[in-house]
Amino acid sequence: MSFYRAFVRPTIDLFSGFDRERAHYIALYALRSYGTLFRFGGVRNEVRAFGVTFPNPVGVAAGFDKHAIALAGLEALGFGFVEVGTVVPLPQEGNPRPRLFRLTEDRAIINRMGFNSEGAAALAKRLSAHRVHRIPIGVNIGKNKDTPLAQAADDYEKCIERLYPHADYFTVNVSSPNTKDLRQLQEKQQLETLLARVQRKIHECAQGAKIKPMLLKIAPDLSQSEQDDILSVAASRVQGLVICNTTVARPPSLRSRHRAETGGLSGKPLQARALELVRYVHTRLPTMPIIGVGGILSPDDALRMFDAGASLVQLYTGLIFEGPFLPYRINRALAARASRSN
Ligand SMILES: Cc1cc2nc3c(=O)[nH]c(=O)nc-3n(C[C@H](O)[C@H](O)[C@H](O)COP(=O)(O)O)c2cc1C
Repeated sequence: MSFYRAFVRPTIDLFSGFDRERAHYIALYALRSYGTLFRFGGVRNEVRAFGVTFPNPVGVAAGFDKHAIALAGLEALGFGFVEVGTVVPLPQEGNPRPRLFRLTEDRAIINRMGFNSEGAAALAKRLSAHRVHRIPIGVNIGKNKDTPLAQAADDYEKCIERLYPHADYFTVNVSSPNTKDLRQLQEKQQLETLLARVQRKIHECAQGAKIKPMLLKIAPDLSQSEQDDILSVAASRVQGLVICNTTVARPPSLRSRHRAETGGLSGKPLQARALELVRYVHTRLPTMPIIGVGGILSPDDALRMFDAGASLVQLYTGLIFEGPFLPYRINRALAARASRSN
């Protein structure tokens, strides 16, 4: 039993009155205030992907630090990059609470946050105040709940316009299960139109300077033909893929009392599907950089994700269950493997 699981997590739970969302913010603000007392940035496993250099390939997944509150603390824990967001153009509350459930027995989370966001302008302000960080920052973008699907591209463009100077890469999120009809944007023709417009906006914002990369985050709940359609569009439109978002599937093995909650499931029960999808995409598009995310709860899980074809990985649920030293442990395992094979 680690110190984190025996002491830190229960203390945070107690302080939050077992409100999972409040617990998350207590942890983030603690990281913001005290995170830099840690210094785990020492393990260097440099990687270059989609034109960006990462000090190491272990990142924070979107949704964990949506509003860019704790970037310096996350960097001090040894993360090689952070994906902030999902951000939407205008501030919005998201779904009513409770909307975040911990499935402890299953080492999983179900969330239906629904893009709670302070909006693009507030995030831009936060990121510009933070410009001291050295690790790359990805900005994950979405649409406001009230924006009709037919106008969704306007929202993605607004996010790019507002946040362009502050991002090292952008991730187009069309795969969250918690915004009504959002995932319809993964349909071939809609996706082609959306990505073409976002790409044009990125070129416009670059004003002749280096073009920032655009990634696409996909859902795990796609049929084979939907998957293939997405890949045929992505191949010529994006510089990388983030695989994958949370799942609406509910494996029969789930035991927790929260298993029937509506929302996206993450953590251990997502791992096999995420690995399978990464492996498939890597076989189909071998030169496409992949950020592998879904159910990484140990260094071995991360190594399996790299072996499946991921260039980088991200963590969310693993951080909640295994604690803040997980990125450091993964980087140490990666460095040890690299030195063995040299
Ligand atoms: C509470 C919560 C909020 C999330 N919010 C977002 C989000 O805003 N945008 C997004 O693209 N993914 C979001 N995700 C999905 C994660 O980025 C990740 O794709 C997913 O959780 C699988 O990784 P994991 O098994 O390591 O958690 C969220 C996940 C959780 C648990």
